[in-house]
Amino acid sequence: MTDSMAANNLHNQIPVNDTVAGYIEIINEFSKAYYHAPVFNNQPVWTSTYWQGIPVLKCPLDLWLYQEIIFNQKPDFIVECGVAFGGTTAYLADMCKLVGTGEVIGVDIEIQPQTRASLAKYQNVHLIEGSSVDIQITQQVFEIVENNNTLVILDSDHTKDHVLQELMIYSKLVPSGGYLIVEDTNINGHPVYPEYGLGPMEAVEEFLAIQSEFYIDKDCHKFLTTFNPNGYLKKM
Ligand SMILES: C[S@@+](CC[C@H](N)C(=O)[O-])C[C@H]1O[C@@H](n2cnc3c(N)ncnc32)[C@H](O)[C@@H]1O
Repeated sequence: MTDSMAANNLHNQIPVNDTVAGYIEIINEFSKAYYHAPVFNNQPVWTSTYWQGIPVLKCPLDLWLYQEIIFNQKPDFIVECGVAFGGTTAYLADMCKLVGTGEVIGVDIEIQPQTRASLAKYQNVHLIEGSSVDIQITQQVFEIVENNNTLVILDSDHTKDHVLQELMIYSKLVPSGGYLIVEDTNINGHPVYPEYGLGPMEAVEEFLAIQSEFYIDKDCHKFLTTFNPNGYLKKM
């Protein structure tokens, strides 16, 4: 099998394009080690990664991509579904301050007091508590951001059905040339956490099959490993 054939066979399982086909196994093994190995306090390191002292449940290479996207798109609003401890919310808010524009709307089904306290000093963060697919919650979000330049990040319930619902709802907010980012497409064996079940990657596949406005921005695989393979969707 040629390197190119191998790349095509593994198309949906690896965060790379054909030019790095020869490194696929190494990349997948590194991605698995990064995600699973209990290298820090007996836990994977992504559970001990911080922005301004607040836990960020991400790979820093993805945060760097976020920074590049925010600099280029200069969104008026960033909608983040799934806030957890708020580290990414704070990071996004700080990036907005650095580029001189942008507010973050964080939606989470349950916002802990500690998360509110961590984010209290950020005047450009607005938190909305409730399910990201609840009509009352989506109405609140749409009233704030509709018709603005909006970046959307989906990082809440990772089951396929939920992510697909979010994709159908929040894709409407993304302007031409903007991004709709689906987090954790790496789970369910792409290449990590194979026992998860149908998740974000499968939601992306179905979403792309039923609409033609968005495409996978493979340039966002440039750091070789990512928690979001095929998850950086760009609107035509
Ligand atoms: C993976 S964590 C978010 C991580 C965070 N974005 C970060 O980068 O640090 C997932 C979050 O989604 C929230 N969540 C789960 N189901 C949800 C739903 N239906 N709507 C909104 N948030 C939900 C959970 O409460 C949890 O805080």
